[in-house]
Amino acid sequence: MIECKTSKEIGGMGHSKKRKEDARFIQGKGHYVDDVKLPGMVYMDIVRSPYAYAKIKKIDASKALAIPGVLAVVTGKDLEQYNLHWMPTLMSDTQMVLPTDTVMYQAQEVAAVIATDKYIARDGRDAVIVEYEPMTPVMDPFKSLDPNAPVLRSDKPGKTDNHIWHWEVGDKEKTEDVFSQADVVVKQQMHIPRIHVASIETCGCVAAYNKVENHLTMYMTTQAPHAIRTVIALVAGHVGLTEEKVRVISPDIGGGFGGKVPVYPGYVIAIAVSFLTGLPVKWIEDRSENLQADSFARDYHITAEMAGTKDGQILATRFKVLADHGYTDASANPSKFPTGLFSIGTGSYNYHNAYMEADAVYTNKPPGGVAYRCSFRVTEAVHAIERITDIFAREIGKDPADLRMQNFIKKEEFPWASPTGWSYDSGDYHAGLQKAMDAIGYHELRKEQAELRKQGKWMGIGISTFTEVVGAGPSKDFDILGIKMFDSAEIRVHPTGKAIARFGTKSQGQGHETTYAQIVAEELGIPMEHIQIEEGDTDTAPYGLGTYASRSTPTAGAAAAMAARKLRDKAKKIAAYLLEVSEEDLEWEPGKFFVKGAPEKAKSIQEIVFASYTNHPPGMEAGFEATHYYDPPNLTFPSGAYICVVDVDPETCHIKIRRFVAIDDCGNIINPMIVQGQVHGGLTQGLAPAMYEELIYDEAGNILNGTFMDYLVPTAVESPSWETGHTVTPSPHHPIGAKGVGESPTVGAPPAIVNAIVDAVSHLGIKHLEIPVTPYKLFKELKAVGYFK
Ligand code: CDP
Repeated sequence: MIECKTSKEIGGMGHSKKRKEDARFIQGKGHYVDDVKLPGMVYMDIVRSPYAYAKIKKIDASKALAIPGVLAVVTGKDLEQYNLHWMPTLMSDTQMVLPTDTVMYQAQEVAAVIATDKYIARDGRDAVIVEYEPMTPVMDPFKSLDPNAPVLRSDKPGKTDNHIWHWEVGDKEKTEDVFSQADVVVKQQMHIPRIHVASIETCGCVAAYNKVENHLTMYMTTQAPHAIRTVIALVAGHVGLTEEKVRVISPDIGGGFGGKVPVYPGYVIAIAVSFLTGLPVKWIEDRSENLQADSFARDYHITAEMAGTKDGQILATRFKVLADHGYTDASANPSKFPTGLFSIGTGSYNYHNAYMEADAVYTNKPPGGVAYRCSFRVTEAVHAIERITDIFAREIGKDPADLRMQNFIKKEEFPWASPTGWSYDSGDYHAGLQKAMDAIGYHELRKEQAELRKQGKWMGIGISTFTEVVGAGPSKDFDILGIKMFDSAEIRVHPTGKAIARFGTKSQGQGHETTYAQIVAEELGIPMEHIQIEEGDTDTAPYGLGTYASRSTPTAGAAAAMAARKLRDKAKKIAAYLLEVSEEDLEWEPGKFFVKGAPEKAKSIQEIVFASYTNHPPGMEAGFEATHYYDPPNLTFPSGAYICVVDVDPETCHIKIRRFVAIDDCGNIINPMIVQGQVHGGLTQGLAPAMYEELIYDEAGNILNGTFMDYLVPTAVESPSWETGHTVTPSPHHPIGAKGVGESPTVGAPPAIVNAIVDAVSHLGIKHLEIPVTPYKLFKELKAVGYFK
């Protein structure tokens, strides 16, 4: 550290008092990380690079340190002394915590300022003078592969280019054969733009290291507290922060959507400073920092091809991807899946030949590749298949609804072995699309469209019928940094029949407190109001991989049912003992066991639980607790049929979504109101990249829309009145037949919207529009086809 004042100088308090404050916070409910206040707490702000690619010549902190209340300025060189200047990413790449010599993207962390209050920390940040020697950045992923491009990751010994990895799946030769013989082949280049998770709460933490007890409590906005604890122990174990000495508490989180899975440098710097000073360190990003520097999502350049017959039979697909990962691969994917679950991109259709390949490259952009409300690249895959399916339908002059109905996998064909290796568990795609078509009045709309066209008015109808893949995942294939992706539930029922259930997942607003309580209540017959749900504290919750990619219901939800069933088995034994009958003589109805044929001879679950502490059968373990670590046998495959209707103004190119019908199938529904809420929010986040959001950089590496003034996050004002419904095709392998739902609408909505806009202007010769489809982009396309002069 360049300079650091002691805790005494700033009135720091003794550790015991800090611990008490700590406990008070933990007991409180409804707190966000920014609400955490600990005695002696100091604040951190971060100096960020104005350049996308530059050498750091000098960092002059003298003016900052002269400000009263500024305690320290931390640089990469300081962290280097403890070997904490680099950290691993979740994809086993490496990422700078603070740079020692080179910055790799605009807004990258350069130094951290520690001060007694957050305003002083910001003044200090502004007073740090950094001298840079700018270099020409690589912003275009295609140019990144030029032999003349600078090698961005020269820190990696032997690295001679900017290529990160190559991935492929499917049968290349067979697929090529089908393509070479097919009557119809369509091809489309498309970009799924770089966007950002814009959750209401930004990222932040309070790192509170207790020197006396050699113990770190890390309050942080994380979707995966246990995984973070393990990562901290792996990164900082060598300085004494071993796993039992680390407690991660993730309190209420204001939205995560995948963006709160990665470990950001700010967290690590805060831990390092707290470790070195013994002071609690708070770091909360501001809105622009969150947008400019945290992990991005998407940024896939896809060439999609489809081969088929003239009468509309799909025969094969071929996708080629160039993935822009910024300066490091910091995706939050399961280890074996560098493109996440992109291989779901063969869609809902019955054909047997597919080949997909992807190459990832480094550029001078922020790293990431987060699973933004998406099972790791499913959004990109669904966009590709649902756009190319529409392009194929248009090429052969077939209605896109008819073409989909013709090609859907039939409900009796499940489990379906996809050409890229998935085994779809269940689905009824025909029923879903039919329901959506009936709800929206599809055939009448087509007639209306023809009529309107005669009057020079543009209306379009777009369909997306997607298959999702959620619930990562079965341990044979799914791990993050080697940790298998099971999840867990622990249920403790107290003597009076009231319960606490704890989970390895972490809600960010999805309502786990309600739905998990419902599952336990349903299985045990205890009223849900008597069940307290807790997540997010590694000292109390069982180990789990956290909440993202709609995995909570398929994994921890299943664990809740399984743990409750273990308890029901125990309850049966106790009931048999109390009623002096054999277990075979008992029947269960939610809330009690009774003797077959004599329902008055019964023991309620509350009586049974009480007996487990007071009068349990001899030889049986006392108490009423169970834990289950659920390793799913397969993923779950929810699906959806979405139809969007747009009206486009032929003069201004203004696009108005007239109607949007979303029929989802997430198997058995636990809570219809929560599912509807999930779908509403998710659809709005699907509207976002379709019409509004894209992070744009210029050639010099400047982000051109780094604030919410320019980065347009849609709100209720821009959203149509979403019309939702569902079909129910239970998952055959999930204990309660449920599939995940949270991400489905975000995944399924963009192609429905774009297909509708393209449909509205297709009679003018437009075959494809890149997202986000803004009025200006549409104007330019219409100009290109000669509509506007
Ligand atoms: O992992 P995450 O909680 O984001 O996603 P999810 O498993 O899709 O669940 C989102 C919310 O919807 C949770 O509260 C679920 O319990 C609920 N849900 C439901 O009520 N019924 C389903 N079939 C699926 C999810």
